[in-house]
Amino acid sequence: MSYSVSASRELDVTNDRWDNTLMLTVGFALGSGEHQPYSTTTVQKSSSGHSSLQEGVSGTLGKDNNFSYGMNANRSDSQGASGSTNMGGNASYTFPGNWKLQVENCLDGYHLNIAHKGFIEITRRRIARAGAAYKGPDIEAMFGVDLKTGSFGLKNGHALFFTENPAPQFRPLWPQREQLAARLGAGRAKWLLQYGRNLTIFPNVQCTDNAVIGQFRVLRPLATALTEMDIYCWVPVGEPPAARRQRLRQYEDFFNISSTGTPDDVGAYRNCQEGLQARAVDWLHGHGRGLGAMVRGANDYARELGIEPETSSAGPLNMSDETLFHANYRQWLRLMKEGQRRALDAGEIG
Ligand SMILES: [Fe+2]
Repeated sequence: MSYSVSASRELDVTNDRWDNTLMLTVGFALGSGEHQPYSTTTVQKSSSGHSSLQEGVSGTLGKDNNFSYGMNANRSDSQGASGSTNMGGNASYTFPGNWKLQVENCLDGYHLNIAHKGFIEITRRRIARAGAAYKGPDIEAMFGVDLKTGSFGLKNGHALFFTENPAPQFRPLWPQREQLAARLGAGRAKWLLQYGRNLTIFPNVQCTDNAVIGQFRVLRPLATALTEMDIYCWVPVGEPPAARRQRLRQYEDFFNISSTGTPDDVGAYRNCQEGLQARAVDWLHGHGRGLGAMVRGANDYARELGIEPETSSAGPLNMSDETLFHANYRQWLRLMKEGQRRALDAGEIG
């Protein structure tokens, strides 16, 4: 257990008044053992009458502590008429692969029924057990029906992949569909509910909102074959409690290292990183699928959304589109060449 007490004095120059603040912080481990969580509580009181209470719990998991997490809540009586309460959480993990593997992962729609066989099998068993009471998309069936899919290659390396959602009625937003249509218009509300979207903001931010559920990610290269992921569940402000509960349960079901989805991707990154070290062949990569369905500029989907991508493609789910990778490959090459040219000009490389 640790504690600290601190006092500070500040002069508020706008009203020429001194404000004294006293802060007490207490920290202690919750339990014992290698990975026990750590709790930190901070109470703050100032002579102007403002007070706040912060509580945080953080910890690490896994071999080499390669998964870390934290949750925090903050209560303050200094903001708004009745004070404010904020809550947050974070989780991060590392995987033994290059950061570009994660960039590609979020853009390809065709790894789902290959890499996530375990998740699909679990879903199949849940449906068999629950029957009509099952509340969620039948992932296996997605590949047997004529679902529309497509992608946009955007400027500066950004790209978006979308797939028609076969079961929008199981989305937490579904009960609010009429309010969404009234606020955003029928077109945007349709895209929120009936299309899953994976967006990569080049080079290292990703937002997914698809048949599984939404996640916001920031990836950070730590070494050639080591990448850190910060992951967040993103939620609409003011979501009803039942929808929020459904969203969180769906999120924890697929994402995170203890889930049915993320471990598959992490395993695939490790395998790809090792496989791509092969020297016996000159070239292992291909990314030409979907070229026949690609157009320069906007297609009907882009026009419906009101965006102007550099490339657009559309087709059935099994077309396994790869044209959206080109946007970030081109931007990566452009930035690498630019960096090389600058280093040459500065005489840093010969
Ligand atoms: Fe995946």
